[in-house]
Amino acid sequence: MHGVPSNVMTDPRKLTIANELARARQLNLDLLSQVPEEVSNRVLHPDFRPLRWHMGHVGMFESWMILEQAKGGQPPDKELARIYSTEYPRSEFHDLPPMETALSFSAAVRDEVLAYLDTVDLDAEHKLTRNGYIFHNVITHEYQHTETIVYLLQHAGLEFEQQPKIETFPSPYAPEAVLIPGGEYAVGRQLEEPLFSYDNEWPRHKVKLTDFLLNDSPSTNSDFLEFLSAGGYERKELWSEAGWLWRNETEADKPFYWRPAGNGDWTQKTITGSIPLPLSHPVTLISFHEAQAFANFNGMRLPTEAEWEVAASWDPQQGRQLLYPWGDRNPTPDDASHGQPLGWTEPAGKRRNRSPLGLYDMIGNIWEWTSTPFDGYPGFEPFPYPGYSEVWFDGLHQVVRGGCFVTGAPMLRATFRNWFYPRTRERFIGVRLARDT
Ligand code: AVJ
Ligand code: FE
Repeated sequence: MHGVPSNVMTDPRKLTIANELARARQLNLDLLSQVPEEVSNRVLHPDFRPLRWHMGHVGMFESWMILEQAKGGQPPDKELARIYSTEYPRSEFHDLPPMETALSFSAAVRDEVLAYLDTVDLDAEHKLTRNGYIFHNVITHEYQHTETIVYLLQHAGLEFEQQPKIETFPSPYAPEAVLIPGGEYAVGRQLEEPLFSYDNEWPRHKVKLTDFLLNDSPSTNSDFLEFLSAGGYERKELWSEAGWLWRNETEADKPFYWRPAGNGDWTQKTITGSIPLPLSHPVTLISFHEAQAFANFNGMRLPTEAEWEVAASWDPQQGRQLLYPWGDRNPTPDDASHGQPLGWTEPAGKRRNRSPLGLYDMIGNIWEWTSTPFDGYPGFEPFPYPGYSEVWFDGLHQVVRGGCFVTGAPMLRATFRNWFYPRTRERFIGVRLARDT
């Protein structure tokens, strides 16, 4: 590898870190190479800053966490570090430095980080650097911003050269309900474990579940069409109070990116243009409120996040939780649909990544709404900064699980917790239905 210092080449942990840092950056560079300069300065969605900011922000975060917090140094440019911090305003008029400035700032940070990686002792009793914790945190952070960039590009409706292959099934898969036996289970992670995890996944703790049923696959566009055709959006009794308010305020009468195409057919806007609605694919880009009303229509409910996690990863034979439905091995493209910013969903019911309890496709393809508001586990302590998780324990966000076709491998595991406002309908989130026995 060009420009990589010598100790990084000989310590396998350091080499992995250097490779993953490079991969995460390259993914974003490839994605943004397709975006016109002018678009990168636009507010594409009122809740988010322009794309230029995101590419400077990944460097700012890397500089803050590694060069300042771990190494005790300074950012390469203090004024740019300020502009790319989260103090920078979200939606007002922006005149950010050009994309090139964001990219060269982040590249300058990267050079210093690799030099530091060369000398740092990954076995020292230093919570930030032990086993490379903070480096893996930075890698994961960059992938999280890839997802946000993809949502913003989808929202902007740009046309890309690269078209995803839309695979279809002859007929949509009808999910089967799997019985999950009640009992006491352990969920969550510990900092000390080798694979990186976030503070909100700690500590591992016990949960008591009663018998429940969970569909072996996410619900499809075909399933959701039944809800829509049966007047689901007009039937107040199917919606929660907050959901009905949201439905009236937004005048939602279909998923955000669906368009009627005449004769009862539908098209769906994707990141690369419109396609006939793929009926066999999981329904996605729906809000928590829509997911809940859809569940009620089916006489079912959303799973809690603990139910979701047990179903995805509990191995009754070993009496322990696996990292992934398939075991503890890192994900490959064959295991789950992930890591493709310009990809799309794949049909539900492909019987991918079966968990020991018999559930499919829980990791990758689409995120899934749960009925649990985002909060800290018992004994939660913020690390390395409260801004990642703790400030979002506000009762206003719902936990979302599993990862989607965009999600980078470092965010893909049974314990990973994501969280969004219930009104969010622009992200690749769908639904897997549960019910009591
Ligand atoms: C965990 C996806 C809700 O993007 O808002 C990125 C992740 N935190 N930079 C977000 C995050 C800081 C966060 N989510
Ligand atoms: Fe961030």
